[in-house]
Amino acid sequence: AKQMNVETDIITLTRFILEEQQHVAPSATGELSLLLNSLQFAFKFIAHNIRRAELVNLIGVSGTANATGDTQKKLDVIGDEIFINAMRSSNNVKVLVSEEQEDLIIFEGGGKYAVCTDPIDGSSNIDAGVSVGTIFGIYRLKEGSKGSINDVLRKGTEMVCAGYTMYGASAHLMLTTGYGVNGFTLDTQLGEFILTQPNLKIPNTRSIYSVNEGNSFYWPDYVKKYIEDLKKPQDNGKPYSARYVGSMVADIHRTLLYGGIFSYPADTKSKNGKLRILYECFPMAMLMEQAGGRAINDKGERILDMIPKGIHDKSGIWLGSKGEIEKFVTYIK
Ligand code: AHG
Ligand code: MN
Ligand code: MN
Ligand code: MN
Repeated sequence: AKQMNVETDIITLTRFILEEQQHVAPSATGELSLLLNSLQFAFKFIAHNIRRAELVNLIGVSGTANATGDTQKKLDVIGDEIFINAMRSSNNVKVLVSEEQEDLIIFEGGGKYAVCTDPIDGSSNIDAGVSVGTIFGIYRLKEGSKGSINDVLRKGTEMVCAGYTMYGASAHLMLTTGYGVNGFTLDTQLGEFILTQPNLKIPNTRSIYSVNEGNSFYWPDYVKKYIEDLKKPQDNGKPYSARYVGSMVADIHRTLLYGGIFSYPADTKSKNGKLRILYECFPMAMLMEQAGGRAINDKGERILDMIPKGIHDKSGIWLGSKGEIEKFVTYIK
């Protein structure tokens, strides 16, 4: 017969979750699958609004600031409202932490999950058409909890699911439920996220570093020394390449696929760095570890072992290829 290259057995996110659930947690109740369906609706709707932003005057600022002092863009506020509504209507979420909400939100009903989200990450770039994304991390409520801040001031190791959707040329979802990392691409015709990068692993080394050198005046000396040494010809005779988008989701997506090291270090200007633990550091650290990489703070401690004291607490962070982190660790003092 004439060779037809029509793919007739595509794996959608929904099918993937059901199949993964069978072989990793047969006892699962299907609640996480339902929650992931509500999450993917939020991603599709946010993607839709981002694609149209320029057409409907959705770029620019909203004129307000959030709890961590960021100027809120219109899309920050819209992304946040879309996400809150999608989580409320899922009937599966009890607690929601969002970058754009000063206090945590407790929903009515009997939801069993606490969701931490950065609804629009990289929003300072949004008016320039640079890729932005939504980051999320999910805890199951603690035994007997009715839903409170104690369900989220916990170690990152207790997250049951984490990931991001990057709104680039396509919408890319990178997801882990603790059994490796899988990448999905939104097929806008089907309205489905399709499995495109099964069981993704980060390369063990790659001479790419990703940091905002505009902060280097404020860095501790050991950070300056490490970065300066990367600029010298290495064993292969070539220095490292610098790549920094300024949207964490875009910088992490590249690091997962190509390898390398990403950092937002603590410095004398921001003593805990800039990135928020619950909805930026933890989800990206879980993804990196599940992809075979590492994620540590400025003291070399594992990010996922930290416990935030407040829902918007920040931490310095270094994450990426295992070989690159091991090299950095030798400089810490
Ligand atoms: P957000 O847009 O959610 O506030 O996050 C912005 C973060 C992160 O996306 C990025 O890595 C970092 O800010 C860039 O900060 P600098 O512009 O200071 O480098
Ligand atoms: Mn912000
Ligand atoms: Mn962010
Ligand atoms: Mn944000």
